[in-house]
Amino acid sequence: MKALILSGGKGTRLYPLTYTRAKQLMPVANKPVIVRVIEAIQQAGVVDIGVVVGHTAPEIMDTLKDGSAWGVKISYIPQESPDGLAHAVKISESFIGDSSFVMFLGDNVIQGGISPLIRDFEHNAWNSQIVLKEVPNPTAYGVAKLRADGSIEQLIEKPANPPSNFALVGIYMFDSTIFKAVNSIQPSKRGEYEITDAIQWLIENGYSVYPHVHEGWWIDTGKPIDMLEANALVLEELTPSIDPTAFIDETSQVDSRVTVQAHARIVNSVVRGPAIIGEHSLVENSYVAPFTSIYHHTTLRNCEVERCIILEESLISDIDTVLRDSLIGRKVVVQRGNTRPHGLKLNLGDHSNVLI
Ligand code: DAU
Repeated sequence: MKALILSGGKGTRLYPLTYTRAKQLMPVANKPVIVRVIEAIQQAGVVDIGVVVGHTAPEIMDTLKDGSAWGVKISYIPQESPDGLAHAVKISESFIGDSSFVMFLGDNVIQGGISPLIRDFEHNAWNSQIVLKEVPNPTAYGVAKLRADGSIEQLIEKPANPPSNFALVGIYMFDSTIFKAVNSIQPSKRGEYEITDAIQWLIENGYSVYPHVHEGWWIDTGKPIDMLEANALVLEELTPSIDPTAFIDETSQVDSRVTVQAHARIVNSVVRGPAIIGEHSLVENSYVAPFTSIYHHTTLRNCEVERCIILEESLISDIDTVLRDSLIGRKVVVQRGNTRPHGLKLNLGDHSNVLI
């Protein structure tokens, strides 16, 4: 069994943050989403991993290197343009060979890992296994129409009128018949080789595709709101720890569901979990409310934040409104200005979004 992680694509829904960073490297509870994907694959006993990379290849490769940090072996498969998930499979044929494989979208986070799914696939003679999850907004995903006996009748990519609430989760298992499928389909109306069309081809040509319905949570971290939701869910499951090199002064209150990473400092502040304070960050005279992740080398001073993700090397200081449900990028400064005339002074990148 091998694995294929898809880490190309454009990440337009997370602009402006993904102008300068691959969306798969966005951290959820201070760990890049793609690292969570690699850990899930490794825990399922699969170590031979191909990572499909696009224009953000250098930073993905710089982060993951050869995979040895996670006990896996990574090969990189360059995709010249993001021509679709089935196209990513097409160009991976020589890496996969005649092995079975699990394909995991590099921006998906799933509760409970994939070990049971891999076991099921290995012990059954299916050509493919797909994962479905009931969602309230199926138009945003690939959607499955099921027959009364639970088998799949049809798969449709982002339908305007979804035939069910069963969305396709970004985890798929295939044997090598998928290469016949991806080499037989044509690009869709939006110009992409769709994996849903390739799986539909398998069904129509008599191959077996088994749908597993996932009961736990699943998040596709495509949009800022999804990132915050994924962050909250992962924080909820994190086993908290305080690194021995972290410093918490005696006037601070840090509750038992808070993780404090190496060399972080908490001074005269209250931190309520679940929350995580990253390496070398400083929280001073501040309140950090639940479901917040502060990444590394960031400073919070004289402010209150709630249900936020704040990335590295940022400064939030002397703000008298609570910063809430916010996704803040790298090296961002949000602070009170003391010069007149007063007023909001904004210096925002393209596609920024400010609610006042
Ligand atoms: O997350 C689940 C959904 O993922 C499924 O329900 C849909 O059926 C499936 O098409 C896909 O939809 P998305 O719109 O979320 O796909 P996205 O373009 O965000 O790409 C998913 C991942 O694959 C992401 O990590 C980028 C990568 N990718 C994407 C394309 C189009 C590639 O590596 N190459 C590509 O050509």
